[in-house]
Amino acid sequence: MEKDGWEGGRLLINLAAIAANYAQLSALAGPAECGAAVKANAYGLGLKEVSQTLHQAGCRTFFVAHLAEGVALRQCVGEDSRIFVLHGPPPGTANAFLTHALLPVLNSLPQVQEWQALAHAQGRMLPAALQVDSGMSRFGLTEADVEHLTTHTQALTGLDVVLVMSHLACADAPEHPLNQRQLTTFLRLKQRLPAAPASLAASSGIFLGQDWHFDLVRPGAALYGINPTPGRPNPMHPTIRLQARVIQTRLVPAGACVGYGATFTAAQDTSVALLGIGYGDGFPRSLGGRGFVVSPDWPDIKLPIIGRISMDSLAVDLTPLATAGVPLPPAGAVFDLIGPHAPLDEIAFLADTIGYELLTDLGHRYHRLHYDPRKG
Ligand SMILES: Cc1ncc(COP(=O)(O)O)c(C=O)c1O
Repeated sequence: MEKDGWEGGRLLINLAAIAANYAQLSALAGPAECGAAVKANAYGLGLKEVSQTLHQAGCRTFFVAHLAEGVALRQCVGEDSRIFVLHGPPPGTANAFLTHALLPVLNSLPQVQEWQALAHAQGRMLPAALQVDSGMSRFGLTEADVEHLTTHTQALTGLDVVLVMSHLACADAPEHPLNQRQLTTFLRLKQRLPAAPASLAASSGIFLGQDWHFDLVRPGAALYGINPTPGRPNPMHPTIRLQARVIQTRLVPAGACVGYGATFTAAQDTSVALLGIGYGDGFPRSLGGRGFVVSPDWPDIKLPIIGRISMDSLAVDLTPLATAGVPLPPAGAVFDLIGPHAPLDEIAFLADTIGYELLTDLGHRYHRLHYDPRKG
């Protein structure tokens, strides 16, 4: 173990940057309230630290996917915060929502009925969100379901509808015609349901403009530094830095190959560094032969990842450093795999995926350090 406590890889998570992103999105969405999607362990960055940072920044409405995530989140934020569970109550679990003060997002008639049955049993109105499907065909009440709810007088008794929501399929492509179609459908369906605050936009939807904001926006990705406006400069602050240490360097002679499958053969004698990070850490194997790393001291020099990525290590071609006359790194030297000069979205693109997947895949093997530069 190195003296500062980490060996293979470490993930630095900048909580001040997450708070700054929240402030920026809040300002953009205002007067709409800005909530936060913290499902999947706050997109891999740590539910407790992230939710408490957001709470401190003023967030009082959180979204998770699963009941269990809601239960975990309730331990992190106080009763002054609303927690919506996007998948609604799995059959037979409605009581647990009450125990943990969670709000279900009701997506189907059976979910509505489940929540209603509990309300009747309790002899009181119970709060819930209704989600309508405005054109993504994922979760939410269909047009026919809404028709049913509005034509059967008892269909909504016992429900205190605190939010009507839907989700956009193509908000990251502002010109896509589905955006306008979903907006129109949402307005139409919402009008048929009990009057309640409304929510349509997640990260990219906020950037579509005020028509999409309604009363509450629900960003996730943009809070964590993923670009909500692909194809344009990223307006958000980067929040993570993924680093790995050099385990050893070696001179690979011309004609020798590197790594499993011998997919890389040195054209000339090549200095290679082996870093202690691999797919076992959640670093994408698809970056073998396609990705790059940078030294924090020489951030403009990209060093290609060569050969296949192993479970616990990857190989980097040091030739660009040698060409620039920079001394080769010793064992223990640190490289950035994601960071200011290796942006998350660019690395995700090279890995043939999206920032969302890259973040949520970042494993627990890394030494994780949450830090807040505001606190010194
Ligand atoms: C219903 C819902 N709302 C909000 C979000 C947050 O989306 P984003 O991370 O794009 O901001 C998601 C994410 O998938 C979602 O499914």
